[in-house]
Amino acid sequence: RLWQQHGEAMARALSRHDALVQAHIQRHGGKVVKHTGDGFFAVFEEGGNPLGCAIHTQSSLAKQDWGEVGELRIRIAIHAGEAEKRGEDYFGAEVNRTARILSTAWGGQILVSQQAKECVHMPPHTTLEDLGTHRLKDLEAPQRLYLVRHPRLPLTEFPALRSLSARPNNLPPQSTVFVGRQEEMRTIKERLQLPACRLVTLVGPGGIGKTRLALQSAASVIEDFPDGVFLVELAPLQEPHWIFHAIAQAIGFTFYSTESPEAQLAHYLADKRILLVLDNFEHIIPAAPAIGKLLKTAPQCRALCTSRQPLHLDGEYLLPVSGLAWDAGQGIPDAWQLFVQSARRIRPEFEISEHNQPYIAEICRLVDGIPLAIELAASWVHTLSCAQIVEELQKGLDIITTNRQDIPERHRSLRHVFEYSWALLTPEERTALQALSAFPSEFTLQAARQGAGVSVSLLASLVEKSLVRKLPAERYQVLSVLQRY
Ligand SMILES: Nc1ncnc2c1ncn2[C@@H]1O[C@H](COP(=O)(O)OP(=O)(O)OP(=O)(O)O)[C@@H](O)[C@H]1O
Ligand SMILES: [Mg+2]
Repeated sequence: RLWQQHGEAMARALSRHDALVQAHIQRHGGKVVKHTGDGFFAVFEEGGNPLGCAIHTQSSLAKQDWGEVGELRIRIAIHAGEAEKRGEDYFGAEVNRTARILSTAWGGQILVSQQAKECVHMPPHTTLEDLGTHRLKDLEAPQRLYLVRHPRLPLTEFPALRSLSARPNNLPPQSTVFVGRQEEMRTIKERLQLPACRLVTLVGPGGIGKTRLALQSAASVIEDFPDGVFLVELAPLQEPHWIFHAIAQAIGFTFYSTESPEAQLAHYLADKRILLVLDNFEHIIPAAPAIGKLLKTAPQCRALCTSRQPLHLDGEYLLPVSGLAWDAGQGIPDAWQLFVQSARRIRPEFEISEHNQPYIAEICRLVDGIPLAIELAASWVHTLSCAQIVEELQKGLDIITTNRQDIPERHRSLRHVFEYSWALLTPEERTALQALSAFPSEFTLQAARQGAGVSVSLLASLVEKSLVRKLPAERYQVLSVLQRY
């Protein structure tokens, strides 16, 4: 808003703000790593005084006369941890976490994490007020946060932190760090804000990362849904009509009359601003029309579905989910990152080296960048070298399995994942898929029809069920992991 009203004055104010903040950072032993668009990311190594810097910065900004811009309130977060330095920049989970903590703060506030509290120097007259533990939008372990109090700080009263805990939700914590998918998250957010969009369906084959993407996206849009964001697991349902009970249970609604569950739920949701994450919809496709109807009567509700096939509803936006990028471009591809991160859970000292990099690249390519397959393949680093994992993968899919108990059973082997997809196919679709798997790589529609005897409609339904990928220029490809299956 400030930009629209006072464009030029704002630009002047910001450059003055930048100079001031930078000067404070340097004076307190810190180093500006980068300008983040509307702020700074700075590091303080041992001997630096980040807390003193934060207090001075806030108090001196408050004393400045910003002219027609009025007030300029900034948020500051201080966190401590190890980060990986590459060139002049820093990377790693703790860097991301710092940004997450900052995003919960209000203008004028200084937040300090538990980890930072334990190691920062406390300037005189400073106290830290315990704000309790908060879940952040990264869905990782909760974070204990403190509010900095100091007589020189201009503001003392703030609303509740903008953390995940500020809105009703049942999003489960995740034990691994989320990788990549920034573009998909942006698209999902934009679409959920469109009035014409009632539901977004993430479609893709098993293990591609639909559920994980849906959860992270739901967390990131939680501010837009004051009545909450709820995960509804559809996989355990035996019958499509149980979906209303599953939704009611997730959002904490109790049926109260003899009216149909559908009608009671519609009544309750009519004026709510809720996002329902409907996970594994392929399992109960016949329930789709009822969900379409429910969303029509609840204009502020949205659904974010994951499914191995589209729901075919009015106002449905489809977002095909593909594997993580594995081709080497700038930086480390997302698929490699997931591999390394997964390998480190088993062998903490695991690193990408000149020696293993070509094999990591090959593993990610052989499994089409499918996150589940990458995680399962990486779980072999305790006994096999990366080169040996490649060798095994070339023989078949059997290596892509684990007996780790913290993984849901249906995700313990890739074969299992595909068996589930296979079971949902008609006999004609199975024959067609087998015939198409004989093509070594891409094929055209004509080749499918003449070479493999597969009709256009069969091919279309395999594409729809995410087993065959449609490439540009009317070319098609059977997922390469499937070929080995
Ligand atoms: N972007 C990501 N970053 C880190 N881990 C990921 C990412 N995407 C997926 N994973 C991990 O890969 C595994 C499979 O992902 P997920 O469960 O989301 O697949 P899915 O497409 O929902 O599969 P299904 O169709 O069987 O339900 C999970 O362990 C998940 O945590
Ligand atoms: Mg899933």
